[in-house]
Amino acid sequence: MTSFVLLACIMASSGGLIFGYDIGISGGVTSMDSFLEKFFPSVYAQQQADSSASQYCKFDSELLTLFTSSLYVAALLSSFAASRVTRVSGRKLSMLIGGMTFLAGSAINGAAVNVFMLILGRVLLGIGIGFANQSVPVYLSEMAPAKMRGTLNIGFQLMITVGIFAANLINYGTASIKGGWGWRVSLGLAAVPAIIMSVGALVLPDTPNSLLERGFAEEAKKMLQKIRGTDDIQEEYDDLIAASEEAKTVKSPWSNILQNKYRPQLTMAILIPFFQQLTGINVIMFYAPVLFKTIGFGGEASLASAVITGIVNVFATFVSIATVDRLGRRALFLQGGAQMLISQVVVGTLIGLKFGTSGEATELSKGYASIIVLFICVYVAAFAWSWGPLGWLVPSEIFPLEIRSAGQSITVSVNMFFTFIIAQVFLLALCHMKFGLFYFFGGWVVIMTAFIYFFLPETKNVPIEEIILVWKQHWFWGKFIADEDIHVGEHAFKNTSA
Ligand code: BGC
Repeated sequence: MTSFVLLACIMASSGGLIFGYDIGISGGVTSMDSFLEKFFPSVYAQQQADSSASQYCKFDSELLTLFTSSLYVAALLSSFAASRVTRVSGRKLSMLIGGMTFLAGSAINGAAVNVFMLILGRVLLGIGIGFANQSVPVYLSEMAPAKMRGTLNIGFQLMITVGIFAANLINYGTASIKGGWGWRVSLGLAAVPAIIMSVGALVLPDTPNSLLERGFAEEAKKMLQKIRGTDDIQEEYDDLIAASEEAKTVKSPWSNILQNKYRPQLTMAILIPFFQQLTGINVIMFYAPVLFKTIGFGGEASLASAVITGIVNVFATFVSIATVDRLGRRALFLQGGAQMLISQVVVGTLIGLKFGTSGEATELSKGYASIIVLFICVYVAAFAWSWGPLGWLVPSEIFPLEIRSAGQSITVSVNMFFTFIIAQVFLLALCHMKFGLFYFFGGWVVIMTAFIYFFLPETKNVPIEEIILVWKQHWFWGKFIADEDIHVGEHAFKNTSA
């Protein structure tokens, strides 16, 4: 691998920062008294007056979650616009638009004087995230040499986790600012990752795949030689040519994607982000402070626990960076699934034993509480080396060029949609399902792990424009793809059978 490609991928990964920063910042801000008092006075009053005995229903307020969620709707819709920009004008432009819009959103949010500004800012943040998540994973998967595609792509997830962690720390600091403007700092600092990403997008080269798709054959060849660090790129270049010829025959990627031959990839583009959210991870990411308060930690302790899960999230991601191209995607999915299931059952049971179904408040001993935190960490670690990174990597590498951009926007939209749903209903669900909520997500983990076992073929080390061969060889999906649908070169066969 050349240092040029490494550098380009590191810079592009910074696109994950804006997403992560936002995930991490909202939960903390919406639990700051000064913020609630200013923008959601009725929620604040309700919270102050709430002396209900049930530990499960303490923070049950939909208004509170509306603020968090408006962003996801904007991201969902904008990823479709991003799909067109990414395809027609290149991955780089989408990243730039993403960074700049996010920057505008953070400025408006930091300066907000009313709820309207708050929501407007959040919609802009959402548009930024829609563009970033649509373009960055695809960019990384196209730039990377096949044997390192997993490692380089997971830079994106690593930056998401760094963003979440940084946001947790910042909230921790700003929550104690006297004078009630701490939330402004939290929201305004989103400008930092936005600037990093925008500058990165300005200087990044475009991918050879995209250059060729847009008709710049010479530039594409030169870029491929540059990023591979050798002139000997004919085989890969031939595949790119074949892929871009195919792409030219496709007038509308949206109607095309519905064809039978794309059924395997379309299924994954929908189910992988759906399953990723149904692991329940964002209950921890958004509501860790609330959740820890609910299970009996004091205010300070709950923020500290959020910081602990943040650290685990970052460091566990390195496990997948180090192993994804050797052990493969499937091994990580299956191991991570098993580990998540075990920890969910343990956490659910521990909470259930203590609070039962009535949710009567009982003091948790330090030891008991620590064991709960420990298993939450075990769960977060498993997610961080399986569904977290793979939920972005796998969709970005399984589509043929002609529908890659459209496919990725489907992934982003489904991801945002279910993130939104979980953000909306979690507090209510905790109130009604109580500790059973952990079993609920555990049940989904069983389903998704079985799904991966039977239906996801291994894609490690296969060149991105040759993935079609993997689908063709799969016991179930193979029948959707006719021999005439395969245009990549002969040499490809020896690559996949190796
Ligand atoms: C998911 C986010 C999640 C984050 C946690 C990402 O892959 O898409 O929803 O909050 O991982 O690290």
